[in-house]
Amino acid sequence: MYFVRSVGVLLAGALLYCGGGAALAQKSPADTIKARQDAMKSMGSNLKAINEQLKGATPDAAAIKTAVAGISTTGKDIAAWFPAGTGPDSGVKTRAKAEIWSDAAGFKAAADSFVAGNAKFMPIAAAGNIDTIKADLKAFTDGCGGCHMKFRAPEEKK
Ligand code: HEC
Repeated sequence: MYFVRSVGVLLAGALLYCGGGAALAQKSPADTIKARQDAMKSMGSNLKAINEQLKGATPDAAAIKTAVAGISTTGKDIAAWFPAGTGPDSGVKTRAKAEIWSDAAGFKAAADSFVAGNAKFMPIAAAGNIDTIKADLKAFTDGCGGCHMKFRAPEEKK
């Protein structure tokens, strides 16, 4: 009787474990890669919107603020977009370089510096002074470039 009950407990435990495992299951590498590329694209179009405003004769500070906030919100968990198994070995087309995982500390530093740069630029964008925004824009976009230079492979020639 005791034995039967223990087996029952073990089974229940195993079922719970599997259920929990399924709930925690990661998205497929293809889905993860697609989602992060879409998120990158969205940050790219926000950055384009910022640059277009700043090139214009009468930049719209509110539009710039919205675009900066968009980048800041989208990118806040950027390091988590790169779980192990979503690199060049995944068999999925990706420009994520193997160095993201082989130099995990360097990648984390790039991601952290990007997130910190966003936090710094956000109040500047919100203040709406176009001259200050222009002066500090490069420090902001260096967050993108600093990571791309090291961790993003060049675009494939078509
Ligand atoms: C911490 C590193 C990192 C930061 C910061 C970063 N990127 Fe990226 N970005 C990547 C990597 C790696 C890829 C390649 C992703 C892939 O193909 O799976 C990429 C891809 C892209 C792409 C191409 C997406 C596609 O496949 O069409 C764009 C556009 C882009 N990033 C824009 C930006 C912009 C704009 C910023 C800053 C606002 C930024 N990224 C910040 C690492 C980063």
